Amino acid sequence: MSPSDTPLSLLGGLTPAEFLGEFWQRKPLLIRGAFTDFHSPLDPDELAGLACEDGIEARLVEEDGAEGLWQVSHGPFDEATFSRLPDRDWTLLVQAVDHYVPEVAELLGQFDFLPSWRLDDIMISYAPKGGSVGPHVDQYDVFLLQASGQRRWQLGGRVADDAPILDGIDLRILADFQVDPGDDWVLEPGDMLYLPPSWAHHGVSQSDDCLTISVGFRAPSADDAITSYADYLGEQLPASRRYADAGMTPPQDPAELDDAAVERMRAMILETLDDPAQLAQWFGRAMTQPKYVDQLVPNEHPTDPAELVAVLHEGEALLRSPGSRFAWRAMDDKRATLFVDGDGVDCPLALARVLASRHTLKADILELDGASELLAALLDAGSLAWAGEFEE
Ligand code: SIN
Ligand code: CO
Repeated sequence: MSPSDTPLSLLGGLTPAEFLGEFWQRKPLLIRGAFTDFHSPLDPDELAGLACEDGIEARLVEEDGAEGLWQVSHGPFDEATFSRLPDRDWTLLVQAVDHYVPEVAELLGQFDFLPSWRLDDIMISYAPKGGSVGPHVDQYDVFLLQASGQRRWQLGGRVADDAPILDGIDLRILADFQVDPGDDWVLEPGDMLYLPPSWAHHGVSQSDDCLTISVGFRAPSADDAITSYADYLGEQLPASRRYADAGMTPPQDPAELDDAAVERMRAMILETLDDPAQLAQWFGRAMTQPKYVDQLVPNEHPTDPAELVAVLHEGEALLRSPGSRFAWRAMDDKRATLFVDGDGVDCPLALARVLASRHTLKADILELDGASELLAALLDAGSLAWAGEFEE
């Protein structure tokens, strides 16, 4: 049986092929006991600790805040913030917890039935009883895994882009949320709810230890994709490629922008953009852009590949830096582009496949052609780091 035809308890006994065919991007799926005996990889105090650190994206949502309903504040927070909060009806949300807590990052491995470059990050929320962020829609697919305590989820179906939202607050809360009969559940630890984009949902904590893990996926908007692809392509186009009107007939009115002129421009734009090879190069770069670019710290001094080989032979390992993203695309049966953190390098196909799939790299990787030079370059770019550095 291939992996895509193997039933997964994570998917409630569906195979990846069944889940992708029927639910992914199409409709919600409640999975009771997706993780059996699930123990939260962190507790509310640890989450609050992360929310107090500089450079970590954290938000606090108070339903009845001192400055109004649905008050949102942004971290870093401090102890005083938490000690002034009431007993209920607030939520702390911390983004990209997988970058900071290895046990949380390990959860991502469970989602390998999806392309890894579709993963965005793991957001974790903590809420005492009554805490919620209000009924809303997200633009992304998300798996909502209950980590501890209970949360009641109510769903309201797919919502139009222009659905009315509450005025005068910093959150996009649906003004009109109707629960679909039957789509109303209390999730226990280990239960998980998959939601496609644009699906109205409302999750309210039922206990004082409610932790919810959101495994979120990225999908660029047409707006971002067009701008970013045009930028990428634009840098490579010769100045001589421009609007051309050789052989045109004399204009009837020199001030008119006639159909033939519009068609010439349209043809130039479409022919320039419709370049599958360039599009693939841009797409790989776009989908491996790190969430927080400044988390990657480039080396000050270039690494000597021979020295790197010696250190690997001594038993040291290289690890993917938290938040780094890898993907590959074959160019032919021997070469590939390895996409790493928004960049692309040409390398042997076998090397690209191994580098993009392993988070830990040991001396055996050196058996592959071109490994030492590429590893040195990735170490210098900050995409890889010596395992020892994580233990310090
Ligand atoms: C939450 O964890 O409170 C909200 C998650 C979501 O609705 O996307
Ligand atoms: Co949501």
